[in-house]
Amino acid sequence: MSVKEDILTLLEQNRGKYLSGEEIASKISVTRSAVWKAIKSLQAEGYAIDGVTNKGYYLPPDTDMVSASGIKKYLDDRASHLRIEVYKTIGSTNDEAKKLALSGEPDGKVIVAEEQTAGRGRKGRSFFSPGGTGVYISILLRPKIPVSVSSLLTTAAAVAVAGAVEQLSGRETQIKWVNDIWMDGKKICGILTEASMSLESGGLDFAVVGIGVNITMPESGFPDELSSIASSVFGASGHPNDIRNRLAAEILNCFMPYCDNLEERSFLFEYRKRLFILGREITVVGSGENAYRRAHALDIDDDCHLLVRYEDGTTASLSSGEISILPY
Ligand code: BTN
Repeated sequence: MSVKEDILTLLEQNRGKYLSGEEIASKISVTRSAVWKAIKSLQAEGYAIDGVTNKGYYLPPDTDMVSASGIKKYLDDRASHLRIEVYKTIGSTNDEAKKLALSGEPDGKVIVAEEQTAGRGRKGRSFFSPGGTGVYISILLRPKIPVSVSSLLTTAAAVAVAGAVEQLSGRETQIKWVNDIWMDGKKICGILTEASMSLESGGLDFAVVGIGVNITMPESGFPDELSSIASSVFGASGHPNDIRNRLAAEILNCFMPYCDNLEERSFLFEYRKRLFILGREITVVGSGENAYRRAHALDIDDDCHLLVRYEDGTTASLSSGEISILPY
């Protein structure tokens, strides 16, 4: 761990209590000047660390700061083995996790950020990732599974997020096929899974499951192009204390057991239950001449393929792609 991470961990463990520079220095075995420099740098990054002469440094009890130790505090046995690294700001957590994967990082690394400056969504879109209101998580996995079932990672992640959000907010969530989590008719979370195949084994080399959750409303709202479709878990009426660390941890707690037994598909029942499009008229968004086709959403199969019946009576099983519940 870096000096900065060590200090954050220490302050987190002593939240609401002053620690002198000397105490910190001795606890993490560095010089007082190294402590001073690291704290200045953390403050410049935006961490709400108070420094008072003759008293020391202090993390206010009500600061909603994402940190590795803040998340670890809420992890249980299901996810306590994960190695968590937190960034205040990063380009894209998925990019960072993929970079680590390519340089040999083992299974179980989690990159978390408070803000992304180049957050990526599906189909090459960008993902709005402002600071202070959401949490952006990428989990690096090396599951021993055939490539053909790797899309189940996204499904499992969707169910994990839905469950974690419901648990902490007490409000109902829904899933829009394939991987969007909705609340009250608007999207609150997107998931982007990126995988790499091993040419040697023909199986998966690694997968990065990227999850972005809008937890509270951005101060100036969502950009115009998103305001009618995006929302956040909590509105203006407030949210539980330390919510971003808690939610990140709960997502990991819920997700890891599914990953360990992915092919058992124990999450499928919950997925189907929350899939509000079943039995409804939808538009399947493709490309070319027949870009928008009206269809009836019939069911999903065990691989989470969506079974649809088009207006001409033909049926299809869609493995990926995009659907809309709005008529075009
Ligand atoms: C989508 O809705 O199109 C998927 C959005 C996925 C966003 C997450 S945020 C964490 C991770 N890092 C990224 O750059 N993207 C994913």
